[in-house]
Amino acid sequence: MNKGDAFMESRVKDLSLAGEGKKIVEWAESKMPVLTKIKEKFGREKPLRGVKIGACLHVTKETAVLTKTLIVGGAEVFLCASNPLSTQDEIAAALVNEGIKVYAWKGETTKDYYENLKSVLDSEPEVTIDDGADLVATIHKERLDLIDNIIGGTEETTTGVVRLKALAEKGELKYPIIAVNEAKSKSLFDNPIGTGQSALDGIMRATNVLLAGKNVVVVGYGRVGSGIAEKARGLNAKVTIVEVDPIKALKAAMNGYNVTSMSKASVYGDIFITATGDINVIREEHMKKMKDGVILANAGHFDVEISKPDLNKISIKKEKISNCVERFTLQNGRRIYLLAEGRLVNLGCAEGHPSEVMDLSFSIQALSVEYIVKNKGKLPCKVIDVPSDIDFKVAKIKLQSMDAELEELTEEQKKYLSSWELGTI
Ligand code: NAI
Repeated sequence: MNKGDAFMESRVKDLSLAGEGKKIVEWAESKMPVLTKIKEKFGREKPLRGVKIGACLHVTKETAVLTKTLIVGGAEVFLCASNPLSTQDEIAAALVNEGIKVYAWKGETTKDYYENLKSVLDSEPEVTIDDGADLVATIHKERLDLIDNIIGGTEETTTGVVRLKALAEKGELKYPIIAVNEAKSKSLFDNPIGTGQSALDGIMRATNVLLAGKNVVVVGYGRVGSGIAEKARGLNAKVTIVEVDPIKALKAAMNGYNVTSMSKASVYGDIFITATGDINVIREEHMKKMKDGVILANAGHFDVEISKPDLNKISIKKEKISNCVERFTLQNGRRIYLLAEGRLVNLGCAEGHPSEVMDLSFSIQALSVEYIVKNKGKLPCKVIDVPSDIDFKVAKIKLQSMDAELEELTEEQKKYLSSWELGTI
């Protein structure tokens, strides 16, 4: 690690914020006991000695704890943001101080975003850590020369896994990638609990709106959407679900939510939150029906769920009314408030998931990277599940840190659960 190089090569907003960032990273670290344990182990064993890692992640305090862990394990880390709005500038500065080469600031243009991503690729990484698959997609579109050097990669989120599986199905995925998102210790906690809390946190920080009594429409009742719905209900909102999958819609109905079409929900919703990973789920025909003053927010990975082209098309005026809120005045005179430019509201208007949840996701990340390096040359060019022993290990350490205790199966129970002979007695 050469700190001088990091200072010379990094592109961040303001290096003088490093002191402030360091304290915030320390706060996150104190809430991430599992990753701290892994960091101690990495410090002793150096499993990533000399490995170059290119990471495209939200540049938050939790990402800082992950990258510091990788460095302690012996890796060299190059980092860019996985969303133009999600970088916390003080964290980016603190990481440069740690010797990490960072190319990220809050408010990047799309051009900046891809230039930063390409700077990470110029480091010729051996392992990629991606969130949304833009890094891997760029390698496959423009930098095939890097493939021979790459051992493998990891993917953090649902949308990234969907993209990578599409690439693998065409037979064009060029190196093995572990779907961190699909680990149980990740997706049962990060997606519903982390996003559930932080998406509402983002909406409240941006608007200070009262949720009690409001009609909150959650579009998509998957892992993320179900978490948002539950938390919104906990704050006494009247929650409606819009779903395309009959089983998920039925689950929402049986969980006591109002379930209806986007077209009907558009008429009465006060706050709309998209969480589908899909495109144009809120579009012109819906926006034109909306009441005056509605709030639109997105929690899905890309800013395509709420159609911004449609919103612009039917608006006569667009004003920025605060850092995170834009007001669109429609031809019909009604006003629509869009948060975080339709990007991830929890990262654009707040700080993303709480550290306690990212402790799980990023512990899976760290151990998956170690697994890739240990299994160099042995893994297939596929989207691979996180090995279950890693998943269980992370869950067990987290339980210990929460002073929770596991029951253990007796020998008799183990035998019973794996036999067929014993039925009605
Ligand atoms: P999921 O696959 O569990 O759920 C998505 C749901 O949306 C499915 O039930 C699907 O049927 C539904 N859906 C798809 N198109 C729809 C449409 N047109 N109208 C209504 N429903 C529709 O996916 P998950 O894990 O919930 O992720 C959702 C999105 O959130 C992804 O883009 C993912 O990458 C992102 N994500 C964001 C996080 C954040 O920090 N904001 C954290 C984790 C995931």
